[in-house]
Amino acid sequence: MTNHIFIQNKLNNFNKTIRVSADKSISIRSVLLASQAVGTSRISNLLESEDVLNSLKTIKKLGINYSKVGKEYYIEGYGLNGFNIKKKTVLNAGNSGTLARLILGLLVKSKSEVKLIGDKSLSKRDFSRVIKPLRLFGVNIESKNNLLPLKIRGTDLLRPIKYNENIGSAQVKTCIILSALNTPGTTVINSKISRNHTELFLKFLKYPIKIIKKPGYEKILVEGLKQFESFKYEVPGDISSASFFIVLTLLSKNSKLIIKKVNVNKSRIGIISILNMMGAEIKLKKKKIYNGEEIADIHIRSKEKLNAINCPSNLNSSAIDEFLIIFLVAAKAKGISKFKDLAEMNKKESKRLDLAVKFLKLIGIKINRLKNDISIHGNPDLNLSKKFEMKNFLKDHRIFFLSCIAALTLGGKWKINDKDSINTSFPDFLKTLRMIGAKIN
Ligand code: S3P
Repeated sequence: MTNHIFIQNKLNNFNKTIRVSADKSISIRSVLLASQAVGTSRISNLLESEDVLNSLKTIKKLGINYSKVGKEYYIEGYGLNGFNIKKKTVLNAGNSGTLARLILGLLVKSKSEVKLIGDKSLSKRDFSRVIKPLRLFGVNIESKNNLLPLKIRGTDLLRPIKYNENIGSAQVKTCIILSALNTPGTTVINSKISRNHTELFLKFLKYPIKIIKKPGYEKILVEGLKQFESFKYEVPGDISSASFFIVLTLLSKNSKLIIKKVNVNKSRIGIISILNMMGAEIKLKKKKIYNGEEIADIHIRSKEKLNAINCPSNLNSSAIDEFLIIFLVAAKAKGISKFKDLAEMNKKESKRLDLAVKFLKLIGIKINRLKNDISIHGNPDLNLSKKFEMKNFLKDHRIFFLSCIAALTLGGKWKINDKDSINTSFPDFLKTLRMIGAKIN
């Protein structure tokens, strides 16, 4: 079976309303928190992508039953530490860094040893960032070079920790919060700002978690061993998936798009601030709060003239998964755009900063890089006609999406490999593109 597509035509003149896939971060959190609740939780609009399906398989292996009735998932929790862990359990997180880091936080009391494995990409990612705080809780972890496969054995003698999370990683922060749920006493995290879905979810569940805002960081206090009830939750759309359609519209001619019911949590919408600073006029309408999260319809229209940006690095964490597609806008903007301190981009499903440089060079954009800072020399007349193919990108879903949007907005004859990668986060990606009018073979 072929696993590539061809795009040979630009896409212009569309005026559509779409929905994008459900939020991946929130879907994984909803599954994991339902596994710790008392009773049966009902989750609707759960993202049915590989990362989330692996989360469901993971809790099932840990003794939690779930079923799908109609479009809804029902997950039967037995409360905190309610897993039934068999000897020699092996959990496979597949491609998902979020699942891998978060599930460790729920295994801190496991009496049996659990082995955690992942795919080729996940097996290259560093786990020291979670191993360090987990060991402070008293958890036993074995891993060669801080990589997967990793073995974890919990303890009944957990002690609350005080931890400075300086990376700005929501995965690390959440791993600590989840560990704290099973730990007596109050765990304190001084956390550089990162996405806060876990904190909002726990507040929605009326869990005793306290957040004190400080300049540039948050102090999070989590009380341990408090049971919470099962819940009903509807997962909103994913801004990271929406971002590809936002840029598609912005760079296409004479087009308009409305994306319905997207999560626009402030810790996630760096892309909207950045693109608006570059001259886009992206609007959030029908804003409302749902179960603690802010949801809105996103309205976008084409924009012929976009300006370069000197991107403030305090927006990095809220746009961390979107820089690839933001760079494409910088490639079409007037002037030299600058982005700083992007080391974290190289710690994702692939080394995304390295690959972004490779990609921009491939499409003929001048780019200067100094360690983790890059300058992109934009070319508003950029118009491609040659053949293009991006090779060896470790099947990173977001590089696949980027290539599709580049092909549809800049032209050229593109062969785009690793189509299956869309199943990581947005299985309906190509269907949605076709719905707008894209010709994909
Ligand atoms: C995520 C956090 C981010 C992000 C990832 C999802 C999460 O990773 O890149 O796609 O759901 O917590 P880091 O925590 O490593 O920044």
